[in-house]
Formats: sequence, structure tokens, C-alpha cells
Amino acid sequence: MENTEYVHGYSDREALRLNDQADTLDNIIHNDTIFPKDSFVLEASCGVGAQTKIIAAKNPDSNFISVDISEDSLGEARQLIKSLDIKNVEFRQADLYGLPFEDGIFDSVIVCLVLEHLHHPKQALTELNRVLKKGGTMIAIEGDHGSTFFYPDSKSAHSAIDCQVRLQRQNGGNSNIGRELYPLLKSIGLSDILVSPRMVYVDSSRPQLVEGFIKNTFTAMIEGVGDKAVRQGIIDKLTFEKGIKDLYRTAEPDGVFSYTFFKGFGTKK
Ligand SMILES: C[S@@+](CC[C@H](N)C(=O)[O-])C[C@H]1O[C@@H](n2cnc3c(N)ncnc32)[C@H](O)[C@@H]1O
Repeated sequence: MENTEYVHGYSDREALRLNDQADTLDNIIHNDTIFPKDSFVLEASCGVGAQTKIIAAKNPDSNFISVDISEDSLGEARQLIKSLDIKNVEFRQADLYGLPFEDGIFDSVIVCLVLEHLHHPKQALTELNRVLKKGGTMIAIEGDHGSTFFYPDSKSAHSAIDCQVRLQRQNGGNSNIGRELYPLLKSIGLSDILVSPRMVYVDSSRPQLVEGFIKNTFTAMIEGVGDKAVRQGIIDKLTFEKGIKDLYRTAEPDGVFSYTFFKGFGTKK
């Protein structure tokens, strides 16, 4: 199975990071995740339910089926959704490359921060498109690590970020996939494609993003690949540690950090 080398792993800390990420980015990436009343929506690769809880609560008149390949993550997602008393979601284990659904049954499909991990994102999108109704909407959201810049700038911080890009590539994924969203959606034959950049700009006048994005989402993600990167000789320990320190430095009162996600909408012809 492709997810055995999933770069972020399935630790408790990663589950917390995914929830911090989703909560922090709610207004930036989900402000327009609104489905028509009574929509039947497939959420592909829901993980621990970090996005599920946001999109399901925003769309109480729609019904969701949220799938993931990891039973453990699904277990956490089920618990989370139950604890929030959200009733419009059903979870199911499924592989994106071979979904257990008939053709054309969903009004919408949403896939969020998943394609970057896949060996064959076009194949997965083709499968998602198969289960989408004619006239239905596909939504895909991905990041792009090449969009990262910050002040004070730091060579070590860029080297630490590059470790994640390289490990992801080594696993067959692509941390810079955001810029490919438009061609990918086009390649599976969707029409009316609209991709928009969702820039997360952070300085100390936005304390919630300093905590939620610079520290708990982005730097925590890069920190998570340190041991592996050092073990594989991609970087030396001191440079990696300096890189992480410099990323945290951008969260100081005079620091600035910016990262861009890309959100694409397309319609099935
Ligand atoms: C970064 S997580 C994103 C989870 C969630 N969408 C979010 O944004 O919080 C990526 C998820 O993709 C799942 N995944 C990886 N390969 C998969 C596959 N072939 N089929 C289904 N899910 C897969 C992983 O188990 C993991 O939960």
C-alpha cells in the first residue's frame, strides 16, 4: 500500500498538528467550501477528521462520506466527530485508487492536502472523477513548499524545508504540487476550472497565525522529518537544528512568514 511510507507518519503529535492546521486555516481555505443543500459529498482521505469537522459543520444540510486508507486515523476521526455531535458524516475505509462506490453517485468530491503524498495523483483524481455525477463539483486543496518565504531569511531554514521536499519526493510524492493543480484538474477533463492561491501571511499582528501556522503547523511539520533526514545523511544534525530554530525565529515580534495553498474547483462534463 502506498501510504506505508507516508512522510508525516500517524503519531499523536501529527494528529494534533493536522487539527491545528485545519483550525488555523479554516477561513483561508474553507471560506467557500459550501455545498448546495442536500448534497451528497465524498471527502477523500479524511485522516483524523481535521477537515471533516469543519466542512461537515459548515454544511449541515449535506451528507458526507469520508474515507481514508488508515483504519487508525478513521478511528480517531469517528471519535472526534462523535465528540462534536456532528451527525452528517459516515466514515469508511477505502483506497483512493479503487473506491468502493458506483459511478456518478456524488454531487461533490473534496480532496484536501492528500495529492502531495501520492505516487499517481492523476490516477487518484481520475478515480474520484469516476464517482462524481455529471455536473458535479470537484474541489482539491494542496500546498506548495516552494511558496515559502520568511524574515529573517535563513539558509539553514531553507535546507531544513528542503529535507521534507526531498523525503516526500523519495516516497513518490510532491511537496510542490500546488502549482500543478490547474494542469492536473485539466488533465482529467474537468471544465470551468478555477484555481486560486490562498496565501497565509503571518506577522506578529496576527498572533493566532503565529501560534497556529508558523509554530504548530509548518515548523512542527518540518521538525517531524528531522530524525529521518539526519539518519539518511540528507542534512547534518546541527544545520537541521539551526534551520528549525530559525523557523521559530520568524515567529518573534519582528518576524514574517508566508506560505501559499492552492484551491481548485472544477466541474465534471
Ligand atoms: C496529510 S493527511 C491529510 C488528512 C486530511 N485530509 C487533512 O487535511 O487533515 C493525508 C491522508 O491521506 C491518506 N492516504 C494516503 N494514501 C491513501 C490512499 N491510497 N487512499 C486513501 N487515503 C490515503 C493518509 O492515510 C492520510 O490520512
